[in-house]
Amino acid sequence: MNNKAEQIKETFNQYVIPSYGRFDLVLSHGQGCYIWDTDGRRYLDLGAGIAVSALGHAHPLIVETLRRQAQRMIHTSNLYYHQGQGLLAKEITGRIAPGKCFFSNSGAEANEGLYKLARRFGHDSGRYEIITALNSFHGRTLAGIAATGQEKVKTGFDPLVEGFNNYVPFNDLAAVEAAIGPRTAAILIEGVQGEGGIEPASPEYLLGLRKLCNEHNLLLMMDEVQCGYYRTGSYCSFQEILKDVAGAEEFLPDAISMAKGIGAGFPLGGFWVRAPYADILGPGSHATTYGGGPLACAVALKVLEVIQKESLAENVKAMSRLFKEGLRELSERYPDLLGGVRGMGLMLGISLNTESGVFSGASPASIQFTNALRQVGLLSVPAGGSIVRFLPPLNITRQQVEEGLSLTEKAIASYGSS
Ligand SMILES: Cc1ncc(COP(=O)(O)O)c(C=O)c1O
Repeated sequence: MNNKAEQIKETFNQYVIPSYGRFDLVLSHGQGCYIWDTDGRRYLDLGAGIAVSALGHAHPLIVETLRRQAQRMIHTSNLYYHQGQGLLAKEITGRIAPGKCFFSNSGAEANEGLYKLARRFGHDSGRYEIITALNSFHGRTLAGIAATGQEKVKTGFDPLVEGFNNYVPFNDLAAVEAAIGPRTAAILIEGVQGEGGIEPASPEYLLGLRKLCNEHNLLLMMDEVQCGYYRTGSYCSFQEILKDVAGAEEFLPDAISMAKGIGAGFPLGGFWVRAPYADILGPGSHATTYGGGPLACAVALKVLEVIQKESLAENVKAMSRLFKEGLRELSERYPDLLGGVRGMGLMLGISLNTESGVFSGASPASIQFTNALRQVGLLSVPAGGSIVRFLPPLNITRQQVEEGLSLTEKAIASYGSS
């Protein structure tokens, strides 16, 4: 590592709170699906942040939109109206169903809005509990870690926010039914668990949850922060999961949170609420200074325009087939390292074989293999101890998918497998 990189790391070590485990990589700039470190080494970026850079790095239309909007108006508070926020809410609503949107700055904050919605919804009947899933991830705010079904995010932060002590196994309808009690107001799940290891909800689970929520007068809330925004090939993951499923035409969650890809790297989050509940959060009930500002909304509108004009939903599906097939072949050829492929669209994971003894050593297999991929020039994202995720830009090309597969094979070869 060069002197500049060492200096940057040193400044971090001295002045930045060490709450992140960082890889030993100092990044400099990006272009499309590639990113460079300060040594000038190029990487194929199949993490896209963590499913954020939906159009890759430095997309010219996003750069131009940022520049133009910055010249007009970067910020105005939510004390006033401006065109972009309304238009973005209309575009999002048009992709889901009649309802309304609120804009925040991040995914965790989008979910905070869902918790407040559920609290208001259940308030007059004394209900405030939200059932969430084991292995889920909903962000790092105090309520976010309470909602998240993973112990590691909660350590040392008790007492936790009340109303989230019901974590049920994912895709297990009977467990949800058993968890519903007199204080339950809502159920919150991811359409595809991301941090939990790329685990899609089954169609039966989604339809069953809707039925349970109808029967018990609960809100069905979906966290689409990672799996939404066309990552699966449809705007929301549930739309893709339920495509062509009999009886699914009427399916609709009551509220949906989103972030990550919405601004393709510009910080923005938000949530959509279905028509009958869209006015529960009335004037004075919820707010944020920056959320839905002119710059963020201009970028988000451009992101949607590019996705549509460049038919990126179709690209996601075509590239997914290619990528999945290639990863499947690799896992068949190298069973000592790879256990199998999971996921949908461009939210893919490979599970690592932690039984074969290849991944010995103190750090989890997912970190070891992510490092091995980085060493051959490919960026990926670990999930849990034994899954490595690929969350590339939605405009990734066939050639880049093929490059990703051959780099993965190169990383496999570094373990001496034949
Ligand atoms: C499903 C899900 N929800 C919420 C969050 C939190 O989003 P943010 O990091 O923008 O607060 C994440 C982040 O990884 C996520 O994957």
